[in-house]
Amino acid sequence: MSTEKIQRVGIIGAGQMGAGIAEVCARAHVDVLVFEQTRELAAAGRARILRSLDRGVSSGKITEREREQAAWRLRFTSDLGDFADRQLVVEAVVENEEVKTAIFAELDKVVTDPNAVLASNTSSIPIMKIAVATNNPERVVGMHFFNPVPVLPLVELVTTLKTTDTVTKRAEQFAADVLGKQVVRSADRSGFVVNALLVPYLLSAIRMVESGFATKEDVDKAMVLGCAHPMGPLALTDLVGLDTVKSIADSMYEEFKEPLYSAPPLLSRMVEAGLLGKKAGAGFYQYNRA
Ligand code: NAI
Repeated sequence: MSTEKIQRVGIIGAGQMGAGIAEVCARAHVDVLVFEQTRELAAAGRARILRSLDRGVSSGKITEREREQAAWRLRFTSDLGDFADRQLVVEAVVENEEVKTAIFAELDKVVTDPNAVLASNTSSIPIMKIAVATNNPERVVGMHFFNPVPVLPLVELVTTLKTTDTVTKRAEQFAADVLGKQVVRSADRSGFVVNALLVPYLLSAIRMVESGFATKEDVDKAMVLGCAHPMGPLALTDLVGLDTVKSIADSMYEEFKEPLYSAPPLLSRMVEAGLLGKKAGAGFYQYNRA
């Protein structure tokens, strides 16, 4: 049984989260292969990571040399077939069950290590739904990172009824010992710990704005100044991405049928309008495109 130290990681998707996870892995001296659908998206993903590494240098968190070395450890591909030798793969594509299951079905055929960790960074889709798309569901776990990944220390580790202890330990050791993250365990329930608590709060804030209870600025100001939150719920919804918040709400509603988890119409309309938040340049607020 091969349970050698994880040195070769694959990341699927170089959006907000995939780029962040790739960056922390490269900074932790691990060889990182990133999948993106097209060369253009791969170039955008690489640029996103390099900008973040630059910010790390300007803020004194990493040296110029560490930035250079991290950049050398990052390679990009548009062929999942290149992932055969990976010991850990973290999937971070759009929060959509069909897209994720199709990727896991293909990945499972490609990755050769029987004890490889095939992890999803899903925020809310039960991991078992993804695992059963593979022929080896015992290799599948949830490794849920937080945004921005280089800054927030938490990883939620989600195991299913089928995940082996070997795979679970490998995932936990990598997150804790290699990446230096703090790990909490969650049962395989939609939303896991953090989003099961956070998302109803974000949806309630959107309903407040929608009903004219208070302005978005006042809702955010109230939670920052009254509860010492680092940002208010509308600004946080913009940071997460409105499409992602809606998809999380939809998954949690499907699982629990709890009215508090149902997406308010304002959120749905904004997603349809392409007002996806910071990553799109506009959401509840306007942004310079990152
Ligand atoms: P994003 O919108 O920044 O990136 C989405 C990624 O999915 C891109 O790499 C895009 O190329 C890829 N993608 C889109 N459609 C695809 C398809 N049909 N096939 C293959 N790839 C496709 O989204 P973000 O924020 O990076 O979220 C990604 C995952 O991480 C989601 O599962 C989300 O729930 C989860 N997550 C998001 C957090 C957040 O704060 N945004 C926090 C923790 C987890």
